[in-house]
Formats: sequence, C-alpha cells, structure tokens
Amino acid sequence: MKKAIVIFGSTGNLMYKKLIPALDKIIQKRLVDEDFRIFAVARKQITIDEFIDIAKDKVKDHIDWAKFKSHLEYILFDIKNVEDYRTLKNKLNKDGYDDISVYLAVPPKLFPVIAKGVSQSKLVEKNNHHKRIVFEKPFGEDLESAKDINRELWKCFDENQIYRIDHYLGKEMIQNILVVRFANIIFENSWNHQAIRSITILSKESEGVMSRGNYYDKIGALKDMLQSHLLQMAALILMDKPQDFSSEAIKDAKVKALKNLAFDEKKLILGQYNGYRDAEKVDDNSQTETFVYAEASVKDQAWEGVPIHFVTGKKLEEKRSEIIVHFHEKNDLGDYFPKTKPQEDKLIIKVSPNEGVEFQFSVKEPGLGNNIQKASLDYCHNCKAMENTPEAYERLLIDLLNNQRTLFTRWDEIETTWKLIDELKGHHSKLYHYDSYQDIINVLKEKGVLVNDL
Ligand code: BG6
Repeated sequence: MKKAIVIFGSTGNLMYKKLIPALDKIIQKRLVDEDFRIFAVARKQITIDEFIDIAKDKVKDHIDWAKFKSHLEYILFDIKNVEDYRTLKNKLNKDGYDDISVYLAVPPKLFPVIAKGVSQSKLVEKNNHHKRIVFEKPFGEDLESAKDINRELWKCFDENQIYRIDHYLGKEMIQNILVVRFANIIFENSWNHQAIRSITILSKESEGVMSRGNYYDKIGALKDMLQSHLLQMAALILMDKPQDFSSEAIKDAKVKALKNLAFDEKKLILGQYNGYRDAEKVDDNSQTETFVYAEASVKDQAWEGVPIHFVTGKKLEEKRSEIIVHFHEKNDLGDYFPKTKPQEDKLIIKVSPNEGVEFQFSVKEPGLGNNIQKASLDYCHNCKAMENTPEAYERLLIDLLNNQRTLFTRWDEIETTWKLIDELKGHHSKLYHYDSYQDIINVLKEKGVLVNDL
C-alpha cells in the first residue's frame, strides 16, 4: 500500500521541534518506502522552497533536506473550506495513496472543524482502517470538553481509527516498564504492598513556560502533565498483568488501574514560580499552578496502604523524569547484623534525560565488620544503544504508519484521567510562590512530605 501522512498545523512548533526530525530519521532509516509522502498543510501562502527555508531556520536537528524535500508536498489550505479537503482527497486518490494518516498538530479548538472536513470529504472514511486520524494532547480541557470533542469524533470515525498521542508513551523507558515488570519474575512477584512501601512518579523541568503562555495559563501543571504523562506512567506501573499483551488488553488493564486511583485532595500542594506572570500572554494575576505535588491511594487489596506520590513542575533545578519504587525496610537478619540499613531498597526507572533502570539494594560492607551498606545495579539504556535511542515521536510515527495502536490512548483512559483531575481541581488549594527549588522543598517538608526522591 502507498502510505501518506497529511499534517495540519505544519508551520507550527511541533512540526519543527518534533515531527520533521522524527520523519527525517524514519526516512533515513528506510522505515518507509520511497513513495511515502508527507503532505504539509497550512494556510501560509508560500512555496515548498520557502517552507523548507523557514524550517531550516527553526529545526535544530541535522536534517537531510534534499531527501526530506523529495518526500514532501506543501499544500495551501483553508481548514474552513470543505472544497480544500475534497481537492486534497482527489489528489491522494489520483496519486494512488490508499493508506493515509491525518495528523492534527493544531490547538484542540480546531479539532472539531478539521475532523468534520476530513470526514465529510472522506479523506478518512469511517471504518476504513487504512485511514486514521491523529490528535495531539491536550484532548480537551476537562471531562466535559473532552466528551464534547469525542462525541463529535465518534460521529465521523471508528474508535480504532482515532489515535490520541501522549508522547510519553513513545519514550523508550516508558515502553520498558512492561518488560521490567513482566519479563522479570523477581519484580513480578513482589509488585504489591507486601514488598512495596511507596511509589514516586516525577517529572521535573528546569525551563519555564517560555512562549507557551497563551496555552499554559489556561491549563496549568495539573492538566498539562498530571492528567496525561504522569497518570499514564502510573497506569503502567499499577496495572495487573494484562490477559495478553494486545493493545486492547493492555488498555483494559490500564483503565482498571486508573479507575482504582483516588487522590487525597488534602495532600495536594500547588506552586507557581516567581516570574511566571511576566511571561508572554500570561495574566498579571494568574493563579495557574506551575508545580504540583499530589498523593493518591489505590483501591485494590494488592496496593493497600501504598501511597503514590506525583511530582511535576517547571523552573525547578533540573530536568528529570523518573519512577521510584520504594521497598519496605524489612531486615530479617536477627542480631548478627545491624537492624538498620543505611538506605531502603529501591528500583528507579529513569525516563529522561538518562534512560535506564537502577536497583539499589543492600550488601555487607567489605571487611571485618558486619555493617550493611548500599549497593546498586545501574543499567544505562541509552549507553547501550549503538546510537541515540529513538525519540518518542519517531516510534509513535512508525507505529501510526503501521496501524499499531498500543502506544496511543483509548477514550476510556482519557475519560478516567479527566474525572480524576476534575475532582482534584474542584478543591481549592493554596498557591505557593517559589523562587527556587529549595522553596518548594521547604513547603513540602513543612507539610510532612518525604522529599528524599526529589
Ligand atoms: C508536554 C507539556 O506535553 O510535555 C509541556 O505540554 C512539557 O509543558 C513537556 O514541557 C515535557 O515533555 P518532555 O518529553 O520534555 O519531558
């Protein structure tokens, strides 16, 4: 089949930052045929050479522009004009493209109008599984708006044709969670409250909101990060073993885990970095949170009494995403060895910028004494790769083009996560202002939050 991807919003940030570099790699690695085409759709009246010139300026990665251009067509397009969709559909038909992915790299308010045009023109016709439509997050701004968008989409497309992106699912170490959990009996058998004391899921960023104030100020960290990336990580960490490892079975298990999560609104801590209100298009009195600490429990016997800590924020001292599984301090060595260990055992799944898995455990100190000391098995995933591990978008685009749905979110995942966030949002929480990461740590300590992982 001849494959094509149609990208709406192709003069936007996502195109330059993520999609062009990922598509270039896919082309370089020959993961698509020579006749694969990228139809870059936008409203700017420019030629393909002007489009490439602008892109050269904006894309930071090294791109083989000549090769990229040979796969590219630039299409001037008015998203409100149904004739433009028909013309594009006829062109794709005439050129023999019969496997088509339509990618909406646009703000969610444009989803309904584009989805309608795509459906009416039969660019993607319902139930044809060689035609699919892809949405970037955020999928709505709360449960109600997400439901509205989804209702419209289901009128036009089958759920199996809808690909909702959460780019964290494309990250190597997020995909690795299932392997670490289910390909290693030592973890599989101790994945419950008997062995595990608590879990921390964190994603810290050093950068601020930058030029995204217009979007971010209406959304905030709870919706921008917790609803999507952090809850997706939690679902993969907490879910039962799926019946089989098919896309649907994995999603069923994730949804069950998400439905069992309950946030404790009394333990929600929100912060805003000083200087945020000076960012472009941010309200002078903005109450939007740029930092979140939240704590949840799991309504499942296997996880009884195990708190799940969520931490995310901007303008912190480093960029780091990790999942930290803390094991109980149990030490059954009797009196011969000291009762206390210098540090509890933990498993750290390092998502970024380092990718890997570290297991910290206890051993006897070398020498004549009987002291216990910390040891660590530290597997570096990106060090093992011959070249850099693939970027999330590279993997997601390949899966999209090959009709593989596992790494995309199903509607009930989105619905369940929005329910959780709407409930949390409904409770008024004080907003702490921070200059530095230490300020945040101080607030957390004051509130009795264990800050070891942070
Ligand atoms: C995006 C958020 O989804 O994820 C951004 O909208 C955030 O605000 C980004 O900066 C973080 O992704 P990553 O891959 O850099 O950890």
